[in-house]
Amino acid sequence: MNRLLALTAMVTVFASCSRDAPPTPASSGASATPRVVPPSPPSTAQAVDALDRIDGRTPVPLLPMMANHQKQSMRDHLVAVQEIVGAVAKQDFVAVEKSAGRIGFSEQMGAMCTHMGAGAPGFAEQALNFHHTADEIGVAAKARDAGAVLAALSETLTTCTTCHQTFRQQVVDDATWAKATNMTAPAGPMHH
Ligand code: HEC
Repeated sequence: MNRLLALTAMVTVFASCSRDAPPTPASSGASATPRVVPPSPPSTAQAVDALDRIDGRTPVPLLPMMANHQKQSMRDHLVAVQEIVGAVAKQDFVAVEKSAGRIGFSEQMGAMCTHMGAGAPGFAEQALNFHHTADEIGVAAKARDAGAVLAALSETLTTCTTCHQTFRQQVVDDATWAKATNMTAPAGPMHH
């Protein structure tokens, strides 16, 4: 019974997170109308295809190394946000500025984002806008203005969530990546 409840809860949570609510298993007892449960994909490749059809966001084609690198830097972006919130709570503006610097714009950051987005029109623009918006956090920290730091952080987080709503990773092989970007694979995340 506990397992059934847990399953029902999981399905409910999943449904509320996805654009197209998946069908409720007929056995959940949550609905009187039996629904059709799609068969599980027989292979991993088909499971990936099934996800591609459910996830309506624009794919960003990336080689495995690039995809891993992108996720690493994403996790560090979130750490930077965590540090900024902690530092502003303590009115430690030096620490705010330091952490904001990690998500701010630099030529190297810009080149990397352009490379990452080479196969997804619009990605690099959103990425550069994010880094330029994050620069305002440092400006507010220099002015020792906690309210302005939080306002700039909020603007920055909007650029994070907007991009996440628009794009998703799509890990591809060398040939697919080369075709999508008109570049030669393999290429490391730092090289053009
Ligand atoms: C220009 C686009 C873009 C911006 C801006 C952006 N992200 Fe992401 N982020 C992505 C993509 C694409 C993924 C992969 C999502 C997927 O495939 O479902 C991702 C994934 C992540 C992940 C998951 C990492 C993992 O290990 O799976 C975290 C955490 C994250 N982003 C945090 C942030 C934070 C915090 C910000 C802003 C401070 C931010 N991102 C800004 C595009 C972006």
